[in-house]
Amino acid sequence: MRHLVLYCHPDPKSLNHAIFEAVVEELRGLGHEVVERDLYQTGFSPILRSVDLARLAAGEIPEDIQAEQDEIRAADCLVFIFPIWWTGMPAMLKGYIDRVFSPGFAFSVAAEGPQGLLAGKRALVFNTTAFPETFYRQAGLAESLDANLAGGILRFCGVEVAAHKYCWGVPFTDNEERQAQLAEIRELVRAEAAR
Ligand SMILES: Cc1cc2nc3c(=O)[nH]c(=O)nc-3n(C[C@H](O)[C@H](O)[C@H](O)COP(=O)(O)O)c2cc1C
Repeated sequence: MRHLVLYCHPDPKSLNHAIFEAVVEELRGLGHEVVERDLYQTGFSPILRSVDLARLAAGEIPEDIQAEQDEIRAADCLVFIFPIWWTGMPAMLKGYIDRVFSPGFAFSVAAEGPQGLLAGKRALVFNTTAFPETFYRQAGLAESLDANLAGGILRFCGVEVAAHKYCWGVPFTDNEERQAQLAEIRELVRAEAAR
């Protein structure tokens, strides 16, 4: 299987980075093909500009967007690793999706409604938060977290979300708990790779 790992966090000392390393190591150890995207390092612009919109509307795909779409097309599984910032994804990843998941590539629009064009692909999503799960459940925000990336973007585009795991309340967890979370993430990756 071929996996495109989209990682979005600016700090190499973060838990997100540890998740990124664990996922890549696990997949490579199993002999799977892995393409890494560290979005703060690739130099990919997250800004959808008017020139992009004009070219996309004319049926031309800007080269940097094309390169990313080719990687998504080639991947069986998309792995997303990012922290929850302001109840959603970091702007860097949102901008990647704004530009790369373009109409005609990720979905089509018709009078009877939109249609996902990435059917057949699967995804794993790993998120971290500062606040505990109880806060998100009590505030009614847990559903909106799920609805945002998994529902409104991935399932909308026809991608099957195989697993969506949160590491809640990161500042309040100790090393032992983080190691247990990394072990659980490795297990989810192994389960996906074994399909
Ligand atoms: C700009 C910004 C916005 C944030 N917004 C949220 C938020 O809405 N909810 C939350 O639980 N944590 C929020 N956080 C905290 C991060 O989610 C938390 O520090 C991170 O998940 C911990 O993982 P890390 O060690 O890999 O950074 C925010 C952090 C930043 C920098």
